[in-house]
Formats: sequence, structure tokens, C-alpha cells
Amino acid sequence: MGEQQTKKMALSLVQPSGDLTIGNYLGAIRNFVALQDEYTCFFGVANLHAITVTQKAADLRRRTREVLATFMACGLDPARTTLFVQSDVHEHAELAWVLNSITSVGQLQRMTQFKEKAATHADNLNSALLTYPVLMAADILLYQTDYVPVGEDQKQHLEFTRDTAERFNSRYSDTFKLPEPLMPKISARVMSLKNPQIKMSKSDPDENAYILIRDDADAIRRKIARAVTDSEYHFAYTEAQPGLKNLIDLYASFSGFTPQDVVEKFRDGNGYATFKAALAELIVEKMTPIRERFLQLMDDTAELDAIRAAGAEAASRVARRTLSKVYRKVGF
Ligand code: AMP
Ligand code: TRP
Repeated sequence: MGEQQTKKMALSLVQPSGDLTIGNYLGAIRNFVALQDEYTCFFGVANLHAITVTQKAADLRRRTREVLATFMACGLDPARTTLFVQSDVHEHAELAWVLNSITSVGQLQRMTQFKEKAATHADNLNSALLTYPVLMAADILLYQTDYVPVGEDQKQHLEFTRDTAERFNSRYSDTFKLPEPLMPKISARVMSLKNPQIKMSKSDPDENAYILIRDDADAIRRKIARAVTDSEYHFAYTEAQPGLKNLIDLYASFSGFTPQDVVEKFRDGNGYATFKAALAELIVEKMTPIRERFLQLMDDTAELDAIRAAGAEAASRVARRTLSKVYRKVGF
């Protein structure tokens, strides 16, 4: 227990809003695994966040299990790390309500993700889309989190979380720790294979734009072969060749080489075909064991249920402590 208290806290959540991609893996989940030894870790499935976009109940339930299974398949160990589902810990929604009361609507309306979603989900512009960052702040602040491993798209939400914590602390007295983001050096933003100007996303309508964690070897080879590059046929790592740059980053992330090493290794090849084939094999090699473990875990309902229940217990114990402090300070 003494050791627990001196260890720093790391926490992150992933939405169960679709099949996870290698963008989620490289930008986030792989980095969670590395933190397990050094920090007290909480990793969760953000199913409360997921309903900001219309979901079918049965799909949401299945995907929630899939994210838990993916966490474990990628190497998160429930014996050392708390794996939980956000809706199992009611303190998340309760703290979000309190934080809503100190958040200005204007600040929420200026958030990049809200502006993007307001444009793409104009038919379902619900108020949870607007208050999404407040719930995310609650997720983080409940656990007195030191570090939040995330991809680059979450940076603004982290700044919002710090702002919100500071506002609460100055209004009511010191309560929350100010968290810091942890972002990978390469692959903090994995781009679409079809349009290197936008990030790889599980909600992309073109299935060739992303590689899923559950894609088999043939799908990986096909998608890499079709990935957009350019017609320069000059093997270089530059912003002027964003498609190739994205593929070089993928090779670097999966191999541990630097992008410059990758250029050295492949620049004398004929065109891009040799490089693409080598990249596809590298991804197949790294992802196949994860995919196989994922499929096994999804078969064992009882084990996943037990891990989920234990995670809910452990998370609630920490969350309850922070929430009761907050309730006292607010006057509840
Ligand atoms: P989400 O699927 O939006 O819940 O994202 C889960 C985690 O994956 C977050 O930490 C994101 O920052 C990260 N992530 C999502 N897409 C990408 C991407 N294309 N590149 C890098 N990280 C990503
Ligand atoms: N908003 C994050 C995303 O879309 C998911 C998320 C919810 C999260 N709560 C969090 C990430 C808390 C880190 C910490 O990726």
C-alpha cells in the first residue's frame, strides 16, 4: 500500500464507438502497456462518451467487451492494472454534473472536436456532444491522475481538463491534481491511408482508409498495397509527400527504427512497391499475435465479465474518495 501511494497515476479511456484501428494502437493503447510497470494504471472503456453519437444497444454492448479484450490482447495485465467500464462507476457522471456548473458554454463551443462533430453530425447535435469534454475532465480528475497517455487529437481536451481543475481548485480550495498528457514521439497522429491530410479513424466511411486491430493478414496486405502515395517515386521523408511519410512513420513505429533509418533502408528500391510489401509484412508480424489473443479472449465471456467486475470495484474505491470530497466542498 505504501508503494501504491508513492507511484504516479496514469489513466486513459478509449471509446467503444467502432472497431479499433492501428491508430488507436500506436497512438494510445501500445503506450498504455509500457506504463504498467512504473505507474498505478487505470484504463477504461468510455461508453458514456460513445452515446454522443447514435448507437445500437447490442452493438455498443459488444464493442464495450471488444475494447476490454483489445486492451488485454495488446498486453494490459488485469493483475497489475485496473481495466474498467466507465458506466460501471457512477461517480463519472456525478462529477461531470458538478464540473458542468463551473464550465462556460462559450469555452465548450470553441473546442475543435465539437466544431468538427457539429459539422458532421448536424442531424444529431445533442447537448452531450457539447459537454463531452466535461465528462472527460471528470474521468481524469476523479483519479487524481498525473499522466494521461493519448494521441495528439486529445491535447485540447487535456488543456480543458487542467483549466477546469484549476477553476474548481481556486473556487473551492485545492482538490484536484493537474494532469499532463503523454504523447508518443512518432504516431501520435496516424493518418488515413486514403487521405493523408486527415487522421486514421474507425468512423471513416472508406474501409481502405484504416487498418483494424482485428484485420487479418490478407486485409492488411490489400490495404497497404492500395495506400495513397504520390507519383514522384523519390523515397524521402518530407511533408511534401504526406502519404509516403505516413507509411514511413508506420514502419518506424512498428520496427523501432527512426524514420531516417527507414529511408536509408528502402531508398534504393524500385518505386514504392518493395517498401509497401515489407511494411505490410511487418504489420502482419506485429498484429497477428494480438489479433489471435483478441479472438480467444472474446470467446471467454466469463473471464471478461470477472475482469470487468473487479475493475469496477477497484475504480469505484478511488473515484468515491474524490467525489465525496467534492460533494463536501460544494455543500451537498
Ligand atoms: P478514440 O477512439 O477517439 O476513443 O481514441 C482512443 C485513443 O486513440 C485516444 O488516445 C486517441 O488520441 C487515440 N487515437 C485515435 N485515433 C488516432 C490516430 N489516427 N493516431 C493516433 N492516435 C489516435
Ligand atoms: N475523448 C477520448 C477520445 O476520443 C476518450 C476519453 C474519454 C479519454 N475519457 C478520457 C481519454 C479520459 C483520456 C482520458 O479518444
